[in-house]
Amino acid sequence: MLNTNLSGSTVVITGGAAGIGLATAELAAQRGATVVLTDRSEATLEAAVEKIGPNADYRVLDVTDTTAVEDVMASVGTIDHLFTCASGITVAPFTEITEEQMRDFFEVKWWGQYRSVKAALPHIPKETGSITLVSGYLYRKVDPGYSAFAAVNGAVEATVKSLAIELAPLRVNALAPGPVDTHKRRMSDAEHRSYREQVAASLPIGRPGEVEELAGAALFLMENTFTTGITLDVDGGKR
Ligand SMILES: NC(=O)c1ccc[n+]([C@@H]2O[C@H](COP(=O)([O-])OP(=O)(O)OC[C@H]3O[C@@H](n4cnc5c(N)ncnc54)[C@H](OP(=O)(O)O)[C@@H]3O)[C@@H](O)[C@H]2O)c1
Repeated sequence: MLNTNLSGSTVVITGGAAGIGLATAELAAQRGATVVLTDRSEATLEAAVEKIGPNADYRVLDVTDTTAVEDVMASVGTIDHLFTCASGITVAPFTEITEEQMRDFFEVKWWGQYRSVKAALPHIPKETGSITLVSGYLYRKVDPGYSAFAAVNGAVEATVKSLAIELAPLRVNALAPGPVDTHKRRMSDAEHRSYREQVAASLPIGRPGEVEELAGAALFLMENTFTTGITLDVDGGKR
């Protein structure tokens, strides 16, 4: 089999009620997958599932809760593809960021992915399944104030190389988005305009990425059966 057809498969997405996770769920459902969205807000999950339609289901899940992550993964049955998008945002100069803030960030973006992989593994078929973790451009391409992201992203990218060997033939990859416009809900109109202008000036592509562009890349990593152990940069040319 040269490519996995997502039709008939089950895709579990953490942090799936918003942003890149939600766009990936929509695209996977359009291609015939059943998608199980997990996130921490039931209202947002309900709205997401309603938007996607009958191929979507949800579980309320905070990825900082190990038992809950285990219970949710076990409740799905067979998980063909796991995509771990849950994350918060921690931006501050290294000299100002507190140990507590750094630990809280790791608790979601690093330990959340670790827990999700551990809990999903017994339910993923090794020959045909895949795991896609999420890194980000803020590691190999650095910006001041983003040491928390740099640290987690470095850990994620190192780990996929290791897991691709240890868990083979199961495929394990990472997606590293560049600046993608998922921030509108957290910003005033003026802040959002300024964010878009700053990103536009920093990228050869001249604009932030759109979630659909990342969804296409996530599906490539799920579907392409000759791809494992890589981090795929989808970053508008950020250097
Ligand atoms: N957007 C970018 O520019 C960019 C760039 C590089 C990398 N990335 C990475 O891409 C991934 C997805 O980012 P995104 O931009 O799509 O983010 P997003 O729109 O904020 O979506 C992330 C989702 O994760 C949820 N979440 C947060 N904490 C959680 C927890 N403890 N348990 C379960 N869910 C939780 C969020 O819920 P709440 O809304 O309740 O917090 C949100 O629904 C992240 O790993 C991010 O670091 C993004």
